[in-house]
Amino acid sequence: MKAKLLIVLGALLFATFGLMAYVRATVSGPRRTAEAVTAASAAGALDPLWPVPAFSYPDQHGETVTDASLRGKVWVANFIFTQCRTVCPLLTSKMTMLMRRLEGVDARFVSFSVDPAHDTPEVLLHYKHRWAPDEARWTLLSTDANSLPALAKAFHVSAEKNTEGEGDPIIHSSIFVVVDAQGLVRGVFDSEHGKDFDAMKDAVLRLSRSPAAQVAPHVKVSPEQLYQDLKCAQCHDAPALAPSLAGRAGTRRELENGLLVGYDESYIRESLLAPDAKRVRGYPLRMPSYDGQIDDVAITELTRWLLALPTVDGGTAKGKEADHVETDVVCGMSVRVTDDTPRTSFQGHTFYFCAEDCKNRFVSNPGSYFKPKPEAGRD
Ligand code: HEC
Repeated sequence: MKAKLLIVLGALLFATFGLMAYVRATVSGPRRTAEAVTAASAAGALDPLWPVPAFSYPDQHGETVTDASLRGKVWVANFIFTQCRTVCPLLTSKMTMLMRRLEGVDARFVSFSVDPAHDTPEVLLHYKHRWAPDEARWTLLSTDANSLPALAKAFHVSAEKNTEGEGDPIIHSSIFVVVDAQGLVRGVFDSEHGKDFDAMKDAVLRLSRSPAAQVAPHVKVSPEQLYQDLKCAQCHDAPALAPSLAGRAGTRRELENGLLVGYDESYIRESLLAPDAKRVRGYPLRMPSYDGQIDDVAITELTRWLLALPTVDGGTAKGKEADHVETDVVCGMSVRVTDDTPRTSFQGHTFYFCAEDCKNRFVSNPGSYFKPKPEAGRD
């Protein structure tokens, strides 16, 4: 279990965190910082950066996919693992947003799992069904522990500056890589930045020589359909990931900073455009920004539709939601306690965690996270 955890964490660090530290751009010679590479990519530079490494992994159907079998297609890669409840749903929602923006474009989307012990082809198929069942262009690869570190490294992702406690891996793991039809990496994008996201979409269009006109024209859809298409349901219908949006109108929401805010039209609009401005208390996962992803009319319609959403059983949402918020003693995040919140007992106390990773870390050494208060009256 511990070995598995180390592999997962190590790979995630290699694959994502390290990338923001230093990227060696072998094709162009001199070493450039990751910031310089992502900045150049965001500015539209599509110089060849380095060739993708050789790999051979089963996809979600158990069929082998290799670097060679992807030749001839432009593809976008990211790194995820399905058990991750903190950042991966965000990355996957970005990946599906990209697919949506590139509807009709002949490209591929490849998600490498960095959790080989858990993410078998069956697990990945299930994950794909949950997020984008009809998307034929999305491939999820089940990697293996032996080759994963080399894969991450060969993607020219190194962990040189990766000292403990430096930065927040959650911010940096939002990296996506665009590969051309010849198997050369042509851009590295931080999907967290709206500008990068748009540049990534344009990079795929340019490299696959898809005239923008070939992209399916934007068909007007109902707010309900939009809620499905934009994957709101994937997070908001899973109580452990995000709050239910049913029957919320007129309630007050408690934010991370302790302030209360009314659930009204302007609050919902802000949640969609600048989700980090007001974060609901108790959710380690962050919500993606839809700024630039949907037009203003659609935002208004979606907002009004959400405000009118009744609760499932006709009651009010208040009181239905677990109001019990605990602090994860390992990472310090506040966690809303639901039935499937990871937990464990130690010295008569129950501890709750944002994810299995934190729980495992706690279980392997509880004493380093929890020191019982000395009894009162004794010096
Ligand atoms: C990747 C998961 C994810 C997706 C996809 C997502 N959200 Fe969220 N959303 C969250 C989380 C987590 C929160 C609570 C933390 C916060 O406020 O940022 C949240 C908060 C909200 C809130 C404030 C809720 C409250 O109870 O006060 C609204 C409104 C909202 N989202 C609407 C939407 C809509 C509409 C969509 C689709 C267009 C969407 N979200 C897509 C994760 C997601």
